[in-house]
Amino acid sequence: MDTATVNLAEKDRGGLFNPDEEAAAAGWGTADPYPLLQKLHDGPPVVKGVLEDLMGIARQYNTDHWTGDVYSILSFEAVNKAFMDAETFSNRVYEKLSKPALGDTLLNLDGGEHKRMRNVSKPWFKPSFTDGWWTDQWIVDAVDEIFDRICEKDHADLNLELCAPLPMSVVSTGFGIPAKEALEFRKALLLHGSPEEMAKGHAYATSVLTRLIEERRADPKDDLISRFVHADLELEDGGKRNMTNEEVMRYCNLIIHAGGGTTWRQLGITIMSLLNHPEQLEALRQDRSLMRQAIQEVTRWYPTDTAFLRYVEKDTVFEGVEMKAGDVAMLCLGTANRDRKQWENPDELNIHRPAKRHFAFGAGVHACLGQHLSRQEMEVALGAMLDRLGDLRWDPDARPARMGGGTLIGRGPESLPVRFTPLPKK
Ligand code: HEM
Repeated sequence: MDTATVNLAEKDRGGLFNPDEEAAAAGWGTADPYPLLQKLHDGPPVVKGVLEDLMGIARQYNTDHWTGDVYSILSFEAVNKAFMDAETFSNRVYEKLSKPALGDTLLNLDGGEHKRMRNVSKPWFKPSFTDGWWTDQWIVDAVDEIFDRICEKDHADLNLELCAPLPMSVVSTGFGIPAKEALEFRKALLLHGSPEEMAKGHAYATSVLTRLIEERRADPKDDLISRFVHADLELEDGGKRNMTNEEVMRYCNLIIHAGGGTTWRQLGITIMSLLNHPEQLEALRQDRSLMRQAIQEVTRWYPTDTAFLRYVEKDTVFEGVEMKAGDVAMLCLGTANRDRKQWENPDELNIHRPAKRHFAFGAGVHACLGQHLSRQEMEVALGAMLDRLGDLRWDPDARPARMGGGTLIGRGPESLPVRFTPLPKK
């Protein structure tokens, strides 16, 4: 497999994978949300007001176009109800959030249109496919190559050398985009920047994808773009047709965008959390059957994104609170995932906790399409980290790792400086 992804990530240290820079570009605050969210834990499940205002931090979401009132939904039960009731709490908010950069995608579609579009790719993101095809074709190779490089030394920044390149490499090579173009591609798709920058990025991404789509229509290969261009899209009247180039392109843009940064940051959070709880890291090293629940627990305890938005479609009384059509609901995973009614000592990280449903990957019809893929990437990467980095510990000579990114969204470690004894692949 091409090593260009890793080289590019190193070269581009300041630009692409620096959460603080991304936060600053978007004008977000970077405070740790949990002490601020803790004060909301025991209050009512639904509160009128913008979440950031209730927390006393700068607003991260652009609220200029919101004409109605805003409600923060805080408890596990209430967040669950809102996620599951897509007719009342719709994804129309994404018309302003993602549509300007990505066009119509699963994120902003609702109802039958969303379901038919999601059905196209659903089979390729099921656990049987992510544990099989994705793992055998792309994940293991990418992880091995990354650890071969890391093991040339006895120290590394795992954020830069593992967490950043891995998901981009997996998702873009899985699609059929050559690894050497993968980072440039993600950069082009970043949702921030001036309209001119965004248009330029869009044009570049479009040219890469158009070429691939044309090639795969004529000559299919064993990759996701080939699957997309030859897949059937079900129509409203029950008929079927192939997807247009434009539809395939939008789908690919969404998946590459949604699958890169999130897994990068969540894997970084997982490594940081385990290094900060060395007894739990050791327990995992000794008993790999804890792996799935460890990943599940860290994503509960510290999801990279702690709030998602919904548009209130019709007048409703929700948990005793009156809302009107046109209002906005902010679903807070940060409080719901630490709800005391659901978990004992929820503020404590405990990988021995039996895995239980939470909202790091959302819920309902818009639940994360790539959740099994990202769990699998994290599982293979953490397994290799435990196998190949003996005596793994923080690097005492480096600046201590800090969490960066936005207070509510896009959180992840700035760096993960570690020392270790390199070990050969088992
Ligand atoms: C740890 C990594 C990830 C996290 C924490 C995460 C989280 C989420 C969340 C919370 C949502 C729901 C958004 C909402 O309801 O408004 C979502 C949606 C989505 N995610 Fe992920 N995601 C991750 C990785 C991935 C990957 C690897 C892919 C694809 C390869 C992906 C593709 C998508 C897509 C396409 C949607 C939209 C689904 C829809 O609207 O029907 N995600 N993700």
